[in-house]
Parts: sequence; C-alpha cells; structure tokens
Amino acid sequence: MYVYDSFAGFPKSTNNVDAISYEVVDTGYWRESEDASPPGTEEMLRREFTRRFGEAGWTIVRGMFEQSLVSDPLRREVAIANLDCDLYASTVQVLDHLLGNRLFPDGAVILLDDYNCNRANPRFGMRRALRECFARTDGFYDYSEFINYGWHGRAFFVHRLGDSPNPDAGNLDAGYLTEGGAR
Ligand SMILES: C[S@@+](CC[C@H](N)C(=O)[O-])C[C@H]1O[C@@H](n2cnc3c(N)ncnc32)[C@H](O)[C@@H]1O
Repeated sequence: MYVYDSFAGFPKSTNNVDAISYEVVDTGYWRESEDASPPGTEEMLRREFTRRFGEAGWTIVRGMFEQSLVSDPLRREVAIANLDCDLYASTVQVLDHLLGNRLFPDGAVILLDDYNCNRANPRFGMRRALRECFARTDGFYDYSEFINYGWHGRAFFVHRLGDSPNPDAGNLDAGYLTEGGAR
C-alpha cells in the first residue's frame, strides 16, 4: 500500500480549470492550503499502519505530487487506486503517472472520491481529468463505471485493451492460451 499526500493541503490552483471552478471561487473548499492535515497526522498513520500491518508492505510519501511522483515514483502494478485529492490538476498528475507508466493491470479499480464535486459539471475536476487522461493513452486503456459511493464518489474499472487477450485478433496460438493452459 502506498499513500501519497502533501499533508499540507492543496497546492495553489494555477491552471484555469481549477482556478475558476465552483469549489475554488464559490465555496472556497479547494483553495491553497485548505484541507491541511492536523499536525502529527503522518506520524499517527505510521503508528497505525505498523500496528495493523507490521513494518513492511506500506509506504507513505509526503509532498506535493508534482515533486513526490518524481522523487519517489510509483513503479509497481496498482490494482486499486483511491484518489481523494479533489483538484483537477492533482488528479491529472496522478492518473497521467499511473496510465503513462502502464501501472494498471486489466480489471484494476479506480475510486474517484470527488467525482461529483463542482456540481458534477464535466468541465471540471475529476470528471474532466478522467476523460482527458484516458484519451491520452490512445486506446491502450479504457474505463467503465463500477459503483457510486455517497453523493460524491464513483468507482471505475480499468480496461487494458492494448495488450490483454483479444478474441477478435484471430490468433488462437496466443501465449496466454498455451502457457499453462487455457483460462
Ligand atoms: C479531502 S482531503 C482527503 C485526505 C484523506 N484522504 C482523508 O480522507 O482524510 C484531500 C487531500 O488531497 C491532498 N492533495 C491534493 N492535491 C495534492 C497534491 N497535488 N499533492 C499532494 N497532496 C494533494 C491534500 O493534501 C489533502 O490531504
């Protein structure tokens, strides 16, 4: 399990999508430094993870994604990604990293906690980020809806179309059928 968070709240919204969004301009919920974690949050999480999981199997990376995904990039396959970072720009940074490095296996699940923020307007937030980031994969990845949770969240399945078994490709000798038998 990997946890990435600034623990210092949101970065300043320098792009227009966030800067003119309802959640920045009207409600103010997504303004710079809003949602900063109380002091000691990271230490509390470390204690709690150690108590539950032991010393290994989890990593906490502190910092803004812009830096942390470069200094400590995620390199392992990601079966479940829970994005609770609200902003369009933050969501783009994470999704571009995961999709661009092809870290999602076929059937992975993405939870977008803030999918219906900004009055569910598709010009903003996670709705826009999801659409644009998947489009950048040029068909290697696609997604479909899984479940809604609360008024705000929606989960999606990831479809890895670029290199998953394809019954329409016309090649029955494909490795996945012959190595270890048909599934
Ligand atoms: C709504 S809070 C959720 C925090 C946590 N998931 C929880 O439930 O308590 C949003 C979090 O996203 C983090 N965040 C948003 N954009 C970020 C970015 N670009 N880099 C690092 N953290 C970011 C904020 O620091 C904040 O902790």
